[in-house]
Amino acid sequence: MNSNSTPSTVVDDMRDLYDRYFESADYQRRYPQPNPSTLAFVLRHGAGVEGSILDMGCGNGRYTLALLHHTAAQITACDISSKALRELESHLAHLPGKDRVSVLHGSGDQLPVASQHGLLLLLFGVLSHAGAKAERMAMLENLRAHASNKARLILSVPSVWRRRPLELLKSLFTRQRAYGKPWQLGDIHFSRLIDGQRLQFFYHLYTLSQLRAELREAGWEVLVAEPESALPEWLITQRPLMEKIDRVLQFFLPAALGYGIRVAARPLTLEGNAS
Ligand SMILES: C[S@@+](CC[C@H](N)C(=O)[O-])C[C@H]1O[C@@H](n2cnc3c(N)ncnc32)[C@H](O)[C@@H]1O
Repeated sequence: MNSNSTPSTVVDDMRDLYDRYFESADYQRRYPQPNPSTLAFVLRHGAGVEGSILDMGCGNGRYTLALLHHTAAQITACDISSKALRELESHLAHLPGKDRVSVLHGSGDQLPVASQHGLLLLLFGVLSHAGAKAERMAMLENLRAHASNKARLILSVPSVWRRRPLELLKSLFTRQRAYGKPWQLGDIHFSRLIDGQRLQFFYHLYTLSQLRAELREAGWEVLVAEPESALPEWLITQRPLMEKIDRVLQFFLPAALGYGIRVAARPLTLEGNAS
């Protein structure tokens, strides 16, 4: 929260938190590469989709950089953290094809430029940081407004069954409001030590049925849902052996019980049908 009299918004707080997270290089250490199975999921469901890619909440671009390598598409990488984007730009500076990437500073609920994309990404909890339900809906609806009719949205969120049980339990008793909005089951506050400082994050943990319902309300229909991983993301992005074990575990795990839940969705038309 900021120290002056104007209450901070969730976007202000997240920008400040992630600026510190990326500046400390803790994020890069914790997640040094994309989750290989999520990257494969993106490539599988994005194959055949025409048009550009929007990586909303791209962070330091671990997926943008991989997609630059694996596709020939134009990519817009957008985030509220200027520190994250600076890191992405420094990686891009040395890469052939860097001209295919446009880096945008902005929030997922108001994309700063008019554009239409074929593949839209909200990977690794971006939606869960957007705030209470009204803000999350604004983000999903904004992406729908920037999606072509045959687009695919691929996103992943933390599962309520797997993440932060103590904070979830505490939230059931305190029902702490998120930025003045009514508390909802799954809204939690948790802290992480970043660069020696304990910083608070807002997070919304999802059930699969809630994720499906929010997407439908915002004009998206879920086509496929899978666990994002069985083991914690940091473990599988740092240890190749753990990543191999995880692929086997994922096979037996229902989507709802993943460490994260990932889905591919398509736009609903005005009549309520999927295109
Ligand atoms: C957990 S990180 C995920 C980053 C990246 N997608 C990845 O997989 O590494 C969440 C990212 O969402 C960004 N973010 C949070 N709220 C946002 C918003 N309202 N609009 C756009 N980005 C946002 C943060 O700055 C941060 O980079």
